[in-house]
Amino acid sequence: QANAMWGGRFAAGPDAIMEAINASIGFDKRLAAQDIAGSRAHAAMLAAQGIISDTDAQAIREGLLTVLSEIESGSFAFSTALEDIHMNVEARLKEVIGEPAGRLHTARSRNDQVATDFKLWVRDQIDAAVQGLQALIAVLLDQAEQGADWVMPGFTHLQTAQPVTWGHHMMAYVEMFGRDMSRFADARARMNECPLGAAALAGTSFPIDRDATAAALGFDRPAANSLDAVSDRDFALEFLSCASICAMHLSRFAEELVIWSSAQFRFVTLSDRFSTGSSIMPQKKNPDAAELIRAKIGRIFGANVALMMVMKGLPLAYAKDTQEDKEQVFDAADNLMLALAAMEGMVKDMTANRPALEAAAASGFSTATDLADWLVRVLGMPFRQAHHVTGALVALAEQKGCDLPELSLEDMQSVHSEIRADVFDVLGVHNSVASRLSYGGTAPEQVRAQIARWRETLA
Ligand code: ARG
Repeated sequence: QANAMWGGRFAAGPDAIMEAINASIGFDKRLAAQDIAGSRAHAAMLAAQGIISDTDAQAIREGLLTVLSEIESGSFAFSTALEDIHMNVEARLKEVIGEPAGRLHTARSRNDQVATDFKLWVRDQIDAAVQGLQALIAVLLDQAEQGADWVMPGFTHLQTAQPVTWGHHMMAYVEMFGRDMSRFADARARMNECPLGAAALAGTSFPIDRDATAAALGFDRPAANSLDAVSDRDFALEFLSCASICAMHLSRFAEELVIWSSAQFRFVTLSDRFSTGSSIMPQKKNPDAAELIRAKIGRIFGANVALMMVMKGLPLAYAKDTQEDKEQVFDAADNLMLALAAMEGMVKDMTANRPALEAAAASGFSTATDLADWLVRVLGMPFRQAHHVTGALVALAEQKGCDLPELSLEDMQSVHSEIRADVFDVLGVHNSVASRLSYGGTAPEQVRAQIARWRETLA
């Protein structure tokens, strides 16, 4: 039996396989609320422009609310034969209100309809991601504040480099997640143009008011080119790019938490609520949430690549290929939100182990740069020579099996005779971090200033 929506020229219905490959209702039912909002705005505009009667528009708008409540309550019977959410909703509307339902699709196509619905959905996800990032930043700020002057090793090449503060390390992630937030906001501003009214591809001969539907749906303006409006999926790609970068940041932090919670580091203790045990090894407490967050970038960036490949080489305007956009974005969005929430919970609950952090900070010759700087500042030595002298002192300490502060003054002077006792002041890790007062440096004062700035920004 031919399709009720478009079967006029068809003698037969689709093969079962055709129906299976074509139908999107299995996943695009998630666009129901957006679809109904778009249709309600469209119907109101059609009536305001005298294209359909006020009575019909009224019936359509109310009927759509009935359909929405059926979908929300779970009583709606989705049909694969009706392909997608757009036709499922319209067909049910016809059952609910009768003949006026057939007037809703005037001056509209599923092509501008789906682009509008999907944009509305992605826009909501951006808002959710920004909220999730704000919550994560809030718990990072609390961690940073608590340990603004706790000293830990800073690493390059994952080798001890210079002491930094715990607060400074937390604030590094605040900067990253802050940029993620602003990236999402930029993408939102750019995508906020309404495709509705582009119709199939060329616009319409009906005297529609695209400014009215754009405004009703919270868009800044209608999209200016109908061909572009129906075939553009940049907005979804931009969302996936922002999500990928954010997931990449999450994965870096997650990896650090995996390392830091190991018995070898013991920098942090993750709460029981965000850890799991082993079915065989009774002592185990595993950082599974961190590991899964670390892994999420795989599917999120995968979605970005997959949609980029779907869009590559597509001729204008609409093609069914673009129906493949949704599952990628749905999956990426779901997993990003989950990862953000899990990271927030884990960071909120975790305990930084101050003694372990400070012991590690003092090992590995972490204040060698401070020593070299002292030679430059106090003895007027060129930095290259100071670097060399310090290197010799590190070698001596290594040979003696101690760290730099444990060398005696005589040991020091055996390498360079002018070294004086006040050199020991700069070898302590607390002095080291306190001296890094340059803007953006690790000194507790600088860290506290950045925490205050972020608290103000978020308030
Ligand atoms: N389910 C379709 C999609 O997601 C809706 C648009 C269908 N348009 C069409 N001309 N067949 O892209």
